[in-house]
Amino acid sequence: MTYNENLKTHHSKITNNFSLAKNVKNAFTQDQVSELFQQQFILAEGAKWTPTSRNIQTSVDIDTLFSNCPWLDDIFGDILVDDYSKYHSGNFYITTQLHDAHVDLLTHEETERFHWAKNIIPWKSCVIPLIITDGADAHTAFFNERHIGTSVTFDRVEISSQDNSNYDIVREYPPLYNIDGVVMLTEEWPDKDGFLFPQIPRGNLQGLSVESVLEFNPGDVMIFDACQIHASCVKRSKPNYKWLKSGINIQFYKEV
Ligand SMILES: [Fe+2]
Repeated sequence: MTYNENLKTHHSKITNNFSLAKNVKNAFTQDQVSELFQQQFILAEGAKWTPTSRNIQTSVDIDTLFSNCPWLDDIFGDILVDDYSKYHSGNFYITTQLHDAHVDLLTHEETERFHWAKNIIPWKSCVIPLIITDGADAHTAFFNERHIGTSVTFDRVEISSQDNSNYDIVREYPPLYNIDGVVMLTEEWPDKDGFLFPQIPRGNLQGLSVESVLEFNPGDVMIFDACQIHASCVKRSKPNYKWLKSGINIQFYKEV
């Protein structure tokens, strides 16, 4: 079966695995964070960016990262408990930019290029913060809404161009599911005390609601549903976001 057929056939298995986003404190030692940071250069096959993006994505094969750093499986084995596929997608990034609402899964192109994509369903994602400017803080909001499909950016009001993105930019939002696997039908805007989304037009946020906000803190790891929509946000009390940060995003899949 194809990846898209698996999503339909195993829909309830995917939704039954949904759980709340969480931050695991001190998952990595300082040495491990430094080693991961270096791997983004050691393993780089190039980098992607656009003149407008203020975001460099180094192209690294995540499965090679796991073989170079075998302790990753020890750490994620303990955190995730359940088995996961040995195949992963993901990317490193270096950015000065708040990111828009999106899900990191597989792009259409990856579902065809990765031979293993036909044997998996999405399970969990993580963000591993590697470094951030002294004194700065950065946060990610995880929404209650989950998208079962391929990688997408949610942009109803057309501020982003498809030409600059590997992710499908959706102008009309698909059905979005809550943690119980029920389609969410909210017309509301996210309302989280103390946090703002200065980079996202109000029209793009309609229909999204905040489950939690986690802080970008090197040494920790944020774990969330691979299908879960997320976006950067800033503290209302400290809306300054002049920083440079680098991290890794990794997807974990279940074999079917
Ligand atoms: Fe992401």
